[in-house]
Amino acid sequence: MLRKAIGRIVPSVPQWATVAVDPAERYVRAELHWEGGHADATRDHTVASLNPLTIATGIDAGTHPLLRYHDSHTGSLLGQLRLRKEGRIAVDRAGVHLYRVEKGEHYCLGWPLRPLTAWRQNRNMLRHRSTNHLNMEPAAAQQLMIAYLPPRPVVLVSLETEGHRNIFPMDLIGPLESSGLFSLALRSSNVSEPTMRTLRRLALSHPPASMKPTVYQLARHHREAVTAWNELSFPLSRSPGFDIPTVASALRIEELTIVHSEAIGSHTFFLCRIVSSDGMGTGAQLHHTAGFHQHRRRRQGMPFPEV
Ligand SMILES: Cc1cc2nc3c(=O)[nH]c(=O)nc-3n(C[C@H](O)[C@H](O)[C@H](O)COP(=O)(O)O)c2cc1C
Repeated sequence: MLRKAIGRIVPSVPQWATVAVDPAERYVRAELHWEGGHADATRDHTVASLNPLTIATGIDAGTHPLLRYHDSHTGSLLGQLRLRKEGRIAVDRAGVHLYRVEKGEHYCLGWPLRPLTAWRQNRNMLRHRSTNHLNMEPAAAQQLMIAYLPPRPVVLVSLETEGHRNIFPMDLIGPLESSGLFSLALRSSNVSEPTMRTLRRLALSHPPASMKPTVYQLARHHREAVTAWNELSFPLSRSPGFDIPTVASALRIEELTIVHSEAIGSHTFFLCRIVSSDGMGTGAQLHHTAGFHQHRRRRQGMPFPEV
């Protein structure tokens, strides 16, 4: 009764929003703050593992930095993560710093919608724990959503070698600008993870937002590899250097060599170098952002276009 009454009064805010935005736009600015310093981390932090929730950056931000997310247009603080240094990975002369997320807050919803939304989302996660592919504690999922305040692009990762071929969606990806590296966090149970570690090369297709249904269908290839390329329902083209099948209608194709991989909790963290990057078209790309960010923007009359 009480729950129904609350449901009628208080709007329901989904955990995630799937949005169609220009990949070049910077809607949210990320900054790392530590004692005595701060640095722009907008293109220099990624998620390295979901469990435990770990952030990677090329910036050495001390032992207990704050990662703050601001709306680029208004300057308003949207949310922040409190981090604790966990380790450092050295690759050639570059360093990548790993930070465990200790706490997080966001300011996208007012009272009482903020605590009610978290309560609802946590309750749903616990109810569907067995089928929830995130497989993380509710508090960590709330912190993960804060890391998605900047809309994060979805790409299709493809690889091919004798006896193994695959293409599947990823969004735990991105540049670590000051290190010159690009990272991917892949659940260690992914069927292509062992091949990726040994093959050390892959291609990224940046799909147009209109490909959303196809992209989501390809999620099953996290568990089972592609048997034959012609079983896919969309045209492919070959990447220029590695000759790996990629999405013919992609907005951008990138080829990556893997220079380092290591297990971090639930995920294998891959550090890569981009060896080619070809823009094939312009337009909106599929991105994910936190549902509370989209809710805030809608209330301000400027929601991201949803797909
Ligand atoms: C759009 C999209 C992006 C994804 N990104 C990642 C990723 O970056 N890393 C990862 O390990 N899994 C990623 N996944 C895979 C999911 O976390 C999940 O493992 C997959 O959908 C299979 O789920 P199931 O095992 O519950 O069926 C992604 C899935 C989708 C649909």
